Amino acid sequence: MTDQRVDVLAEPKHKEPYLQGLLLRYSVFALAFVVLLLGLVLLKWWLIGLGLVGIALGIYDIVQDKHAILRNYPLSGHVRYVLENFRPEIRQYLLEDDQVQVPFSRQQRALAYQRAKNVSDTNAFGTLEDVYQSGKEWFLQSTLSHPLKETNFRIRVGGARCLQPYDISVFNISAMSFGSLSAAAIEALNQGAKLGGFAHDTGEGAISPYHKKHGGDLIWELGTGYFGCRNHDGTFSAQKFAERSRLEQVKMIEIKLSQGAKPGKGGVLPKEKITAEIAETRDISMDKDCISPASHSAFETPRELVRFWQQLRELSGGKPVGFKLCVGQPWQFMGIVKAMLAEDNYPDFIVIDGAEGGTGAAPVEFMDNVGMPLVDGFLLVHNTLVGAGIRDKIKIGVSGKLISAFDIARMLAIGADWCNSARGFMFAVGCIQSRSCHTNKCPTGVATQDPYRQRALDVPDKAQRVYNFHKNTLKAMAAIVGAVGLDHPKDLRPYHIARRMDDGSIKLLSKFYYFTEKGVLLDLSARAEIFNQMWVMANPDSFLADNEALIAYNNDARIKPPVPNRQRTPTKREELEPDDLGNNGVGRDPSPDRIDSVDLSATHYYTYEDDPH
Ligand SMILES: Cc1cc2nc3c(=O)[nH]c(=O)nc-3n(C[C@H](O)[C@H](O)[C@H](O)COP(=O)(O)O)c2cc1C
Repeated sequence: MTDQRVDVLAEPKHKEPYLQGLLLRYSVFALAFVVLLLGLVLLKWWLIGLGLVGIALGIYDIVQDKHAILRNYPLSGHVRYVLENFRPEIRQYLLEDDQVQVPFSRQQRALAYQRAKNVSDTNAFGTLEDVYQSGKEWFLQSTLSHPLKETNFRIRVGGARCLQPYDISVFNISAMSFGSLSAAAIEALNQGAKLGGFAHDTGEGAISPYHKKHGGDLIWELGTGYFGCRNHDGTFSAQKFAERSRLEQVKMIEIKLSQGAKPGKGGVLPKEKITAEIAETRDISMDKDCISPASHSAFETPRELVRFWQQLRELSGGKPVGFKLCVGQPWQFMGIVKAMLAEDNYPDFIVIDGAEGGTGAAPVEFMDNVGMPLVDGFLLVHNTLVGAGIRDKIKIGVSGKLISAFDIARMLAIGADWCNSARGFMFAVGCIQSRSCHTNKCPTGVATQDPYRQRALDVPDKAQRVYNFHKNTLKAMAAIVGAVGLDHPKDLRPYHIARRMDDGSIKLLSKFYYFTEKGVLLDLSARAEIFNQMWVMANPDSFLADNEALIAYNNDARIKPPVPNRQRTPTKREELEPDDLGNNGVGRDPSPDRIDSVDLSATHYYTYEDDPH
């Protein structure tokens, strides 16, 4: 028994000899002494200097108490910091796979650069992709395909109450403020937008002189700070808004509820970073930090939001007004839709941003783990509007890593009206994805306020690239639309795209995603029961969920047989093609009682009975 006892004081078997360890740790430091001695013997001043610098740095490393690595490994420890510093560059230039997205792959960036530089974007020898891999998607071309001459695709934004509708391009520059982007980048983007006749979203940092210099169409975004139209206490100023929104260049107004990379997060611009120009543009003081609160002060309920957009519409002289959001709690969006119905007042547009969206700066947890991805968010909004019978009154724009013509055509096919890109246009003005927007040290002068770094960005040259990127992307999309046998991307449908499933089979997107029928939410007859449940929880007078209503609804549903609508006769198509999930859309799913058991996977049911547009 005693033999088997563990000796807790025993020396580890492979203990490094003390001297060896010492040598390992101090060898480079010792080398500095050798260099100094050699310099003294040979009377070489550069060796003496090198040795002295090495010794001084080594002593500093041992004495300082911030970095344990340097204390243990004087001089040699610096190698770690150097490598760590250059890791992204080493990875990007030497090690990165062409298709690994960090967040954009080398292939995606190369495509944007080629299109921006107007050089050939064709490749040889066939696809590099595995066409049998799960999730792979492709358009189904037509034997009646034809080339399209017109590529300047536009759609009209502006509902019944709008007096100045805007014919927006199907591809535009997404919101990025002056402040997060440099003056030179803003100028280049706006001049490019002017050349190509497309829209440039100001971002929440207000309309700067650089937005106005070239006269490109603007979408003025109002965030929670109401920059450019605020009172001294940070609340909304109707008078300032009326003055500035009537600027001819401002074509639409966008209320920002949230953005995909940091939904639900406010922001602070420290006073040290507030230049006189930023202060004047944003209407803020230079003496204190500039706070963007997490939520709006102009409204507290869905109904107040509806009244706010109507106020903006009137103050701007009837321009299209809409809002941008990354979908969070679905019943809150549905509460807004209920308020629209109650007030009979609709936004002219909604922009959905996905969690995959970009930002100048955000905590990593927000970028990674808060907010709904684009397709799920879009389908929720689109289906809710169809289900409420008002989809035709509102146009939907989308953003979130849409960079190639396929990305754009795909979103239009599943029902979006137009697409925005932020980082695609950043690539067009020279961004190399160094991911240093938050450090003020952007190496290309795109996302920095440092005047010296900005000087590297040649505005006329980059404006031309912005124009080219837009033009060539739409040209490539026109080729897809023509190949499918259509004349305009608004005619693309989810059944024009096939998708490889996990089991190797293929499915049309019209079957892969759930598309609801018109008006079904109004009598709670959506096939995906989850939509009925979330609709029940939505409240036009509060952003809080009505849990009582959900519990009552579910109890009621258990007692009563399903309402006749839910037992509707299957359509011819449904009879012919039963759902792959074994549910032909008739009847009800089991009903959860509690919000936390709500299952959003319902977005993967299907029908293509209803046309999404
Ligand atoms: C540098 C930078 C600044 C941004 N600033 C704003 C902003 O002020 N307001 C906003 O709504 N979104 C902002 N965004 C988000 C973009 O408008 C867009 O919604 C998101 O990046 C998704 O598009 P992308 O994937 O094409 O970049 C910003 C994004 C970036 C990269």
